[in-house]
Amino acid sequence: MEKLFFSLGPGYEVSIGNGASALLGSAAAALTEGRLAAIVTDAGVPREHVELCRARLADAGFAAGVFAIKAGEASKSLDTVEDLYSFFSGLGITRSDAVVYVGGGVVGDIAGFAAATYLRGVKLIAVPTTVISQTDSAYGGKTGVDHLGIKNAIGCFRHPAAVIADTAFLETLPENERVSGMGEVVKYGAIAAPQILDSVSRALPDERIIAACAAIKLRFCEKDEFDLNERRALNFGHTFGHAIESASGFTVPHGQAVAYGMLAAIRLGERLGVTETGVYSAVENACGRAGLDTRWERALGEAYPYLIKDKKSDGRTIDAVLLKRLGEPVRMKLKPEEMKL
Ligand SMILES: NC(=O)c1ccc[n+]([C@@H]2O[C@H](COP(=O)([O-])OP(=O)(O)OC[C@H]3O[C@@H](n4cnc5c(N)ncnc54)[C@H](O)[C@@H]3O)[C@@H](O)[C@H]2O)c1
Repeated sequence: MEKLFFSLGPGYEVSIGNGASALLGSAAAALTEGRLAAIVTDAGVPREHVELCRARLADAGFAAGVFAIKAGEASKSLDTVEDLYSFFSGLGITRSDAVVYVGGGVVGDIAGFAAATYLRGVKLIAVPTTVISQTDSAYGGKTGVDHLGIKNAIGCFRHPAAVIADTAFLETLPENERVSGMGEVVKYGAIAAPQILDSVSRALPDERIIAACAAIKLRFCEKDEFDLNERRALNFGHTFGHAIESASGFTVPHGQAVAYGMLAAIRLGERLGVTETGVYSAVENACGRAGLDTRWERALGEAYPYLIKDKKSDGRTIDAVLLKRLGEPVRMKLKPEEMKL
């Protein structure tokens, strides 16, 4: 079992490992005075994982209700948040109780936002169940929903009270979700730990790799909690990636879009004389070994109009993250026309 800690504010503990969900009941009991839990999941998360979490909570004296939203990015909407408020209210959730999410980044972003805003904040315990959520989205406190076709347009920063990542839950992921998740793993290798790139394959990442990615994210978030400076390096691949996701109507999965976005950003860096040669092939090879599609040019074609709508854009320039070399990201303000490839 790997243990990590986020040190800002009250801080929170992260447990990553096979069987980590056994810790859920005791963690919830230690963090809350109430004994009610609202479990938020989606219809695609296998019931057995949700029932295991409910049983762990019951062992610690919690009565838990379960609400399953529809799986998929389309659920990241204010309508779903309203449904969750009604669910919390129906259960009788108070600020002494807990919201527990069991699912991937979609469930985490929505449940996190609903928990952060219901009664001005109910504690959230994260039980991430996808590669993306265990390596990335469960940490750092970004919550939110999409609006008018713009990803994460509405949201807030609110850290979880604990993250419990049971790597056994990853075994049930369909192949495309496993592969897509590796996009974020490759990103962590590219921006901070090139040795991660060597470990990438079509197999599920082990708990050491997951913990290495999580630790990198936690350290960036501790340096820059509200994403104004250093933390923006985590957006490597995301400026192009979010535009590709939006242009595809969210049919391109997040991690695959990040993979396309990283390769496009490296090509852009080469063109601007910022990126060393050799970086492209290292990232392309790692993506290929993970089973990610590396033909980004076609995907990017339709995506340019969406670039300027990125949250990191001030309307005239885009806050782009490029790489000088592996492990060394650099931020640059670029005009949209300078981002053309
Ligand atoms: N908040 C952040 O910091 C942050 C960071 C990165 C990504 N995100 C967000 O995360 C989302 C993508 O997350 P994701 O890739 O986890 O996708 P997801 O949450 O949509 O999950 C993918 C699919 O896998 C299913 N699933 C989940 N766990 C499973 C399991 N153990 N076994 C079988 N199926 C399972 C889900 O039902 C869903 O159909 C995007 O909305 C993205 O914007 C947020």
